[in-house]
Amino acid sequence: MNNASDSWWRSAVIYQVYIRSFADGDGDGTGDIAGLRSRLPYLADLGVDAVWITPWYPSPLADGGYDVSDYRGIHPAFGTLADAREMIAEAHGLGLRVILDIVPNHTSDRHTWFRQALAAPPGSPGSPGSPGSPGSPGSPARERYIFRDGRGEDGSLPPNDWHAAFGGPAWTRTADGQWYLHLFAPEQPDLNWDNPEVHAEFESILRFWFDLGVDGFRIDVAHGMAKDPALPDLGLPEFSVLTGPGQDDHPHWDRDGVHDIFREWRAVADGYPDRRVFVAEAHVRPGRLAGYLREDELHTAFNFDFLKCPLEAGPLREVIDRSITELAAVGAPATWVLSNHDETRHVTRYGRARTGVQATFRDRRLPTDRALGTRRARAAALLMLALPGGAYLYQGEELGLYEVEDLPEDALQDPVWERSGHTVRGRDGCRVPLPWTGDAPPFGFGPPGTVPWLPQPADFTSLTAEAGRADPASMLRLYRHALLLRRTDPGLRGEEFHWLDSPDGTLLFERGPGLLCAVNLSARPLPLPDARDPLLASGPLDSDGLLPPDTTAWLQRRTA
Ligand code: NOJ
Repeated sequence: MNNASDSWWRSAVIYQVYIRSFADGDGDGTGDIAGLRSRLPYLADLGVDAVWITPWYPSPLADGGYDVSDYRGIHPAFGTLADAREMIAEAHGLGLRVILDIVPNHTSDRHTWFRQALAAPPGSPGSPGSPGSPGSPGSPARERYIFRDGRGEDGSLPPNDWHAAFGGPAWTRTADGQWYLHLFAPEQPDLNWDNPEVHAEFESILRFWFDLGVDGFRIDVAHGMAKDPALPDLGLPEFSVLTGPGQDDHPHWDRDGVHDIFREWRAVADGYPDRRVFVAEAHVRPGRLAGYLREDELHTAFNFDFLKCPLEAGPLREVIDRSITELAAVGAPATWVLSNHDETRHVTRYGRARTGVQATFRDRRLPTDRALGTRRARAAALLMLALPGGAYLYQGEELGLYEVEDLPEDALQDPVWERSGHTVRGRDGCRVPLPWTGDAPPFGFGPPGTVPWLPQPADFTSLTAEAGRADPASMLRLYRHALLLRRTDPGLRGEEFHWLDSPDGTLLFERGPGLLCAVNLSARPLPLPDARDPLLASGPLDSDGLLPPDTTAWLQRRTA
């Protein structure tokens, strides 16, 4: 392994594989395990410590696999369990750890449990033998989910006013008149975590994959599993992924009940002799994340504040300080992330006039300067990879991929597109299959003749992995060099970090002894603290040896 100690996860660089779009081994247009296996050497060579694979389980793919119909299998389009086993062994052989995605807030509506729930009679409130949440209908099969009678004289109104993430109400009515809750698409019914059977099932799922050798899990919607059983109205005009001001007791986000679940999961992970880890996808307000990372809960969490921060010195410094300080209080490392499969790719975000604007779901196409975005993305990558803690890379960012904003409407597959009545295009633009080689689609994504599930733009030619390998000034070469230094330079290995004075609009910090990172986000060139050549810079210094705007450099301070 690249980082063999028990605390590897504290500084790991974890590469997100969105499996449908990574590499297609069999030419059906969808990425798969065979494709991933063929590209594992590329990932080892890139220098990451682990891969996180987005859901690869059997699924109708109503939400790209975040609608799981069988948590112990592999979607036939992705391969078989035997393929998964071999992939895990091969990854380990190359020094890469493997993290899976677990989706515990909801199942697919095709999951056996949900089919049983629909087939079961509604039951009556508080019927004997049911776990009996207040106001719940009582039928044991329905008690695994959140079914309720509707409001209004004939029950034709949803049980409350909650909204679903992808548009519309968070409730769908069944043929017999009851309603079920889904915070996401109707094909993703929410599980009832007040039911001990749900706890037991997920513990067994964790063990299934841990026994197969996986090193950890990314937990989907970790802040959403506990619901207020009274299901009170929210009184909000639309869905929000966060709790709002004054909503300390939000009925479905960030409730204290989630911590009991994570303590149970931690005990399962700690029952294995070698370290197994969790990373939370938890969208919570500042100050709340540390609660998820207490010693007996999860190991790390995505830092969405960093991802959403404008690329400006002041706000970045504030987010970095807050992240490190808040998490240090519970002994957890910070993590850093710039992109994922839900957000507009950062080359595009940073190419916009206001660099923080990036709320994918609501974004209209905004004017973008891609050359500027790419320059800033390079600067941001060196900033991120110099910070203490872990980092998450989203497939393709190392190639400099941008958001594909002009996908034809009939190609769009994100449920957001349909659920918004074709007003919000959704997240497909960051999920376009990767370009590996060649000068025309499928760009080596699959064998010749493959038609990728989302069309690739013609100008991916200059962004293939092959082109990146050949060009010393490419994004790929920058990432490889940065990851190599991160692994080998003692200054970048520990958790030491402190700020040094620098002009407005710039950031300057020191990691281990003498290792400096200078980030120039001002409009003026920045004199570097040392005349010596940088170890690495995101772009060339100017003719006076100054660091130009939108550029980051790593430097070894000269000792006196
Ligand atoms: C977060 C995932 O990242 C996203 O892709 C998915 O749509 C929702 N959770 C629902 O599972």
